Amino acid sequence: MKTKILSGREVSKFYKNKIRENILDLKKKGIIPGLAVVLVGDDPASKIYVNSKSRTCSKLGIFSKTLPYPNKITQVELITVIEKLNKDKQINGILVQMPLPLHIDEFEIINRILPEKDVDGFHPENLGKLVIGKESFVSCTPAGILAILKYYNISVEGKHVVIIGRSNIVGKPLLNLLYQKNDFGNATVTICHSKTKNLSKITSQADILIVAAGNPNMITVDMIKEGSVIIDVGINRIKDKSTKKGYRIVGDVDFEGVKNKVSAITPVPGGVGPMTITMLMQNTLEATLRTI
Ligand code: GUN
Repeated sequence: MKTKILSGREVSKFYKNKIRENILDLKKKGIIPGLAVVLVGDDPASKIYVNSKSRTCSKLGIFSKTLPYPNKITQVELITVIEKLNKDKQINGILVQMPLPLHIDEFEIINRILPEKDVDGFHPENLGKLVIGKESFVSCTPAGILAILKYYNISVEGKHVVIIGRSNIVGKPLLNLLYQKNDFGNATVTICHSKTKNLSKITSQADILIVAAGNPNMITVDMIKEGSVIIDVGINRIKDKSTKKGYRIVGDVDFEGVKNKVSAITPVPGGVGPMTITMLMQNTLEATLRTI
């Protein structure tokens, strides 16, 4: 069986071209989408993500501003920042980079973002709408996974989809997207997590296996069904002295080990990763379109 490599880079390019065209049309009407990114502290990974988001914005014609704050910012000060952005007409989307320092209540901060500017899809109103099948902003990684499946015409209807990981950002929104009674839903979904017993018994029943555990190479060939589709959400840095940087990036799935047994698989890097920022751009465009 020839294994299909599901290229997030290719899907991302396809979406970005469409987003760029839409933004050009808006510009003709004098409208420029705006995204504000709030960055608290100096976590190196967060800085990399935030820089990458602002670079992508400028490539697509989205106005973006990054608001950096020191780690010691108080909850009240941060809420003031959010409320100012809520009122700012130039800003259509607000993203607060996670994680936040421990003295700040993440839930309270997310809760203060206007739901119509919540391009991360983290606000309880957007999550609630997702659960009951109403249109809402959907968290970018789950939206990106769905975009990959759609692009490659992989239907989830009637399939057994197994998700490993129950985070608010990936596992929970994905579960709620996939079982919905709509054109791209109707899957039977199982959620597994760190306390799941007999994990391989469940994963080996999956027609589509989506792994978001943050555990390098945890899924091995003996754990999967022949001909299944594998979506690897993991981005793990592991030591590798043979590379210039001294490390390399691997997913949660042993790609080389499983690739000849599956019908399709996302690589790491170049799979789900590139889709996350692209979906953020898509959500920012949507947020802008909803204001006109
Ligand atoms: N930290 C890691 N992933 C994300 C994300 O998708 N959005 C935000 N705001 N922070 C993150």
